[in-house]
Amino acid sequence: MASTMPHHLALLLLLLASPAATRLAAGAGACASEKFPAGKTYKTCEDLPKLGASLHWTYDASKESLSLAFVAAPAAPNGWVAWGLNPTGEGMPGAQALVALKGSGSSAPAVKTYNITGYVPLGGASTPIAFPATDLAADVGSGGKIRLYGKLQLHKGMKAVNQVWQVGSSVTGGAPDKHAFATDNLSAKSKLVLAGKALAAAAAPTPAPAPAPAPDAGGPSASSGGSDSGAVSSLAPSAGKSPSAAATARVSAPALLVLALVGFLAMV
Ligand SMILES: *[C@@H]1O[C@H](CO)[C@@H](O)[C@H](O)[C@H]1NC(C)=O
Repeated sequence: MASTMPHHLALLLLLLASPAATRLAAGAGACASEKFPAGKTYKTCEDLPKLGASLHWTYDASKESLSLAFVAAPAAPNGWVAWGLNPTGEGMPGAQALVALKGSGSSAPAVKTYNITGYVPLGGASTPIAFPATDLAADVGSGGKIRLYGKLQLHKGMKAVNQVWQVGSSVTGGAPDKHAFATDNLSAKSKLVLAGKALAAAAAPTPAPAPAPAPDAGGPSASSGGSDSGAVSSLAPSAGKSPSAAATARVSAPALLVLALVGFLAMV
């Protein structure tokens, strides 16, 4: 009896833990639970890998327009959040950024655009960016997160583009102060896939466009990507991998629950 007890306990624990695990897995897709004001809906959302940020977006391929909401908590309550596309590189220099600045006022965050030319301080005024931006607005959501809204007119033929995002803790004279340079700040970048389902593209044995020699596609974790110059080739597989891994997790948790339930009932 003493020996069966642990089994019962283990199963019971599994049974109790599984719904929690399922909720956790769903929570990993936290972006899906974001509630925007009326009129703001987006087809896709993506939890970005760093800084607890997410991007919600709809891409209208016929007009090459990207409607988006970027959600992130500033590094301090009166700070700022930023998101941008970088058509010429994968870091901050070259980014065409939207910045929402909370500052110390009680009003809604102000939104500005910046053509980021390098690691130089930004001014208090917007600068023109390569993608005409309209419908710029921001509000503060749950947990003090800033939600930055906008619509960008992209260029013809853009299918995937580097994106960068950032959070900062303070605003001076209407300009975002320098952000921290911790690992997460520096690795807040990924590829935004506008056209073609990343999952389908990764799953299908597409023979056609294979300029990227993917001998073993590297590790599952999005590695630095600095060394082998293949920004696209190193990012594309991981972009396909994470959603499928998430799907696996979603499928297996309920399956586990059923198995645990069956096992538990069989024992009592
Ligand atoms: C952004 O800045 C770069 C570097 O100064 C410049 O070449 C580019 O034309 C600017 N883009 C826009 C849209 O002004």
